[in-house]
Amino acid sequence: MDVGAGLAQIAIELAAQGHTLVINDISANMLEKAKASAAQIDEDLNITWYVCPYQELPEKLGTENSEKFDLIMCHALLEWLAEPAAVMDFFDQQLADNGALSLCFYNPASFDYRNLIMGNFNLLDNTEYKADNKKSLTPNHPVAKEEVESWLAAHHYQTIRTSGLRVFHDYAPLKRGGHNDPEAVIRMELRYSQLEPYKWLGRYLHILATR
Ligand SMILES: C[S@@+](CC[C@H](N)C(=O)[O-])C[C@H]1O[C@@H](n2cnc3c(N)ncnc32)[C@H](O)[C@@H]1O
Repeated sequence: MDVGAGLAQIAIELAAQGHTLVINDISANMLEKAKASAAQIDEDLNITWYVCPYQELPEKLGTENSEKFDLIMCHALLEWLAEPAAVMDFFDQQLADNGALSLCFYNPASFDYRNLIMGNFNLLDNTEYKADNKKSLTPNHPVAKEEVESWLAAHHYQTIRTSGLRVFHDYAPLKRGGHNDPEAVIRMELRYSQLEPYKWLGRYLHILATR
């Protein structure tokens, strides 16, 4: 299952590999686009689409539906939710025993670090976090890694792997030297995504966990 799937690129790829998918997003517009790209791969992919807030999914999936999910992907959704911690109860309810939770979320530390580099010190003097402008993609409800980790521990998940996403690329003001070579950037991103302390500076953090 992919919740808050957006264009659902990863979920569609998994369906193309033969997996059965539930794909959800609150936005009909996003899922229309996702459906169109799924249809381009194969008209018969095994995907059930649900346009609704994820909070309505348990009811739509049916209370009698005892089948749980082997994998739940929740990527870049947390930070847009008014009550992000509530998603943990949803995972508990829907994830099969020994299933995998793929949780990716915006890293609030990246906001500070980027604004330090860019010299936007005024944005760092606010006592309360605020996205830098209304049109930006900076989310309004970011959650610190320590808080997400404390939820996972309280809900008895074990972390399999943690990674940083876009550990250095987004901080580079000038695209020069190695930055001119996209493949080299990806190679270095993948290497440093797994290395302390760099991974904790990623624009997004990814936690793969099981229960
Ligand atoms: C930043 S996008 C992430 C999309 C995709 N998961 C990805 O990683 O590219 C956040 C998505 O969450 C969706 N969303 C926001 N609130 C939601 C909710 N309560 N239930 C389901 N989807 C929601 C938005 O419509 C949007 O497509």
